[in-house]
Amino acid sequence: MSQIYASFKSIGAYVPEKILSNTDLEKMVDTTDEWILKRTGIKERHIAADDEVTSDMGAKAAELAIERSDVSKEDIDLVLCATVTPDYFNMPSTACIISDKLGINNVQAFDISAACSGFVYLLTVAKAFVESGMKKNVLIIGAEKFSSIVDYTDRSTCILFGDGAGAAIISATNKKEEAFVDVHASADGSYADFLVTPAPGSINPVSQKVIDEGLNFVQMKGNETFKLAVKTLTKDVKEILAKNEINSEDIPHFIPHQANYRIIKAVGDALKMKEEQVVLTVGKYGNTSAASIPMAINDIWESGRLQNGELMLLDTFGGGLTWASALLPFAGKAK
Ligand code: ACO
Repeated sequence: MSQIYASFKSIGAYVPEKILSNTDLEKMVDTTDEWILKRTGIKERHIAADDEVTSDMGAKAAELAIERSDVSKEDIDLVLCATVTPDYFNMPSTACIISDKLGINNVQAFDISAACSGFVYLLTVAKAFVESGMKKNVLIIGAEKFSSIVDYTDRSTCILFGDGAGAAIISATNKKEEAFVDVHASADGSYADFLVTPAPGSINPVSQKVIDEGLNFVQMKGNETFKLAVKTLTKDVKEILAKNEINSEDIPHFIPHQANYRIIKAVGDALKMKEEQVVLTVGKYGNTSAASIPMAINDIWESGRLQNGELMLLDTFGGGLTWASALLPFAGKAK
């Protein structure tokens, strides 16, 4: 029997219409466009409409990913969603709701929680299911309505995050040249307090205290996270390249998690990446957590920059703390 490999067949994304610019934020908190741009590289982010929820965005991204693959809805046998802003805390899962919105019923569907690392974590899960022969076509989605957990009176966090979704089809193939080269994911829960949404949960069920103290909003130790992100990402990416004997100059598309331009620049410089190798969307979308990497892949696909067979290097870092990296060719059709 020939070997089964996982391959990345298509990409889709959804960006909500409403834009929240730095100038808008200047009217909401004590900040300036100049500060935000200089410290983060973010100019604007998109915010979902009041009646638009995480599963709506995820389903729209997924429709595109399916349309752009040669897989039909009937062929999909697993639906996975990465999100920390699910439609419901904690059931039903957003993957179940997206499946229903897409008309994909009676297949396994579940969410994973790995914050900004969610999409690359999903690649590891999809690869395991496909290469073990358990599933053939996996729909993976990173979707976030991050605005639902952001305190728009806290200037240290509200400037960073945006909403959106991205999705991909991961299929079984016998062609080695289409296969994922490597994926790696890890975590260190001793840094859990760097990025946390204290409620709702078993520690802080909904109560008047939760409302009064705003415990339902994301809290971040920004500077500590920043320093650890640069160190961990640089080490992780160097390791995956060395392990697979690939030089950084041979990577056409380095697609890092879009949290902060300065983090991306520091990691890119440490790897001696040229500007044209590094995909940057943080300026227009901000940090969309689990949606950030697929939205960035979609951007280069839609602009005609991503061709069949080209190698992508993904790396990410987020709440947990979690981090992950992946080396894989784009095995779908170019635009
Ligand atoms: N406007 C103006 N001043 C501000 C703002 C703002 N929006 N926010 C903070 N400041 C002030 C602070 O109050 C502080 O003032 P002080 O010196 O008087 O105390 C000063 O700016 C410096 O604050 P720092 O937090 O040290 O600034 P830093 O350079 O670290 O930038 C930032 C902050 C942008 C948040 C950065 O730390 C960062 O990007 N961190 C990493 C975020 C990240 O990668 N998260 C991981 C993924 S997210 C996920 O998983 C969900």
